[in-house]
Amino acid sequence: MTKASQMHLGLFILGTGHHVAGWRLEDAEAGAENFPLIERIAQAAERAKFDLVFFADALNTGPKVHPSVMVRFEPLTLLAALAMRTSRIGLAATASTTYSDPYNLARTFASIDHLSGGRAGWNVVTGAFAEAAANFGHASHPAHDLRYAIAREFVEVAKGLWDSWEDGAIVMNKAAGQFADISKMHELNHKGQYFSVKGPLNISRPPQGYPVIIQAGASDVGRDLAASIAEIVFAVQQDLEIAKQTAADLRARAVKFGRDPAHMKIMPGVCPIIGTSEADAKAKLRALGEFSDPASALKVLSERLGHDLSSYPLDGPVPALPQSTIMQGHAVTLTALARKHNMTLRELRDYAASAMGHRLLVGTPEQVADGLEEWLVAGAADGFNIMPPWFPGAFDDFVEQVVPILQKRGLFRKDYRGRMLRDHLGLPRPPHPQAGITIDAIGQTVAS
Ligand SMILES: Cc1cc2nc3c(=O)[nH]c(=O)nc-3n(C[C@H](O)[C@H](O)[C@H](O)COP(=O)(O)O)c2cc1C
Repeated sequence: MTKASQMHLGLFILGTGHHVAGWRLEDAEAGAENFPLIERIAQAAERAKFDLVFFADALNTGPKVHPSVMVRFEPLTLLAALAMRTSRIGLAATASTTYSDPYNLARTFASIDHLSGGRAGWNVVTGAFAEAAANFGHASHPAHDLRYAIAREFVEVAKGLWDSWEDGAIVMNKAAGQFADISKMHELNHKGQYFSVKGPLNISRPPQGYPVIIQAGASDVGRDLAASIAEIVFAVQQDLEIAKQTAADLRARAVKFGRDPAHMKIMPGVCPIIGTSEADAKAKLRALGEFSDPASALKVLSERLGHDLSSYPLDGPVPALPQSTIMQGHAVTLTALARKHNMTLRELRDYAASAMGHRLLVGTPEQVADGLEEWLVAGAADGFNIMPPWFPGAFDDFVEQVVPILQKRGLFRKDYRGRMLRDHLGLPRPPHPQAGITIDAIGQTVAS
């Protein structure tokens, strides 16, 4: 065992909770379009000194999707609202690189970073859901690896746009009549394979330099993208040994890309179900299971495995399926879990219904804290993305009962040290590429 530092904690806020039946519990509140509730949850996470809150996104909906995502706020609009109602916690959300435009998106994230005083985080997703294509006039959803190639260039363009203005470029020197130091403004002039963007961006460099970049790719190309750009990796892991191997692999890939792996925080999702005893926690999980709509649960698993499972016998084994083109990482880890525990399709369906394929921790507050500590100390995680099965009660349980144990064990902060999300995560602020370089009177570059 290696000595671990403190863990990072994110809160994945999702509609009525991560369990498909979370919304049906008595103390659950409908959260997807309820701003006062979302505000209350984010403020509770801030009081508990969480690193960040996170909102996922998809660009489609329909009658069969998970109830928590059937209707929802556009997440970047939501972050802007939360920036006004919180002061320290990081504010992160998904934005698609397949169905967005780099200039608009770089501008929106820069705005949120300014509005929040440096607390923005961007979960770079390639868009797992093919149904989105029809909402953007596209004949089809681009293939898996092509989506990743587009994402790589998209992020490069966004970073270039955030570097449009060096720090301190807006001088506002009233006496000299100089508003901006134009020598510190840079056009991007990007002409790549997928994007052509001139720049500069019409907003100054974000307080954090760049918003914190998050990525959740788990396939081979997905891991490469994560290891090359991600400062947080949202992992999907249920098994400690596999989680350790995956973390080691991601860190080795980061080194290969010339990065310090300490600047990439691996945060697997965890769904905590907390009871006064282990039996009480298990009874809560069973109660959730009884409220589940089997069709919605099977749809969640079908998405996770990348194939429609409705024609397979529920009490048979989990079928061997061709490689998923949707979420390869989820498919691999869930199938491995089913094989390891000899699960039937019904059992795997019920597991995926609970935490959408993420790790379930069912027990007393001490047992949940132990489950987090074990992975942190083993080097399988730098922190966790907490995915409560319903809101707000299940999150309140975590904040009131588990966080104090983690703090007492020295595994989690008791207060924030800095103001920006990068401060909470211990991440450096990316320097401007031209910082320290000036152009002399005859147009030559000189170091200043
Ligand atoms: C915690 C977490 C949050 C995610 N959020 C989104 C999301 O909001 N929208 C989306 O389309 N995909 C989301 N994904 C899916 C990933 O972006 C990615 O498509 C998935 O992990 C599969 O990648 P892979 O094919 O490289 O394995 C999320 C994944 C994880 C683990």
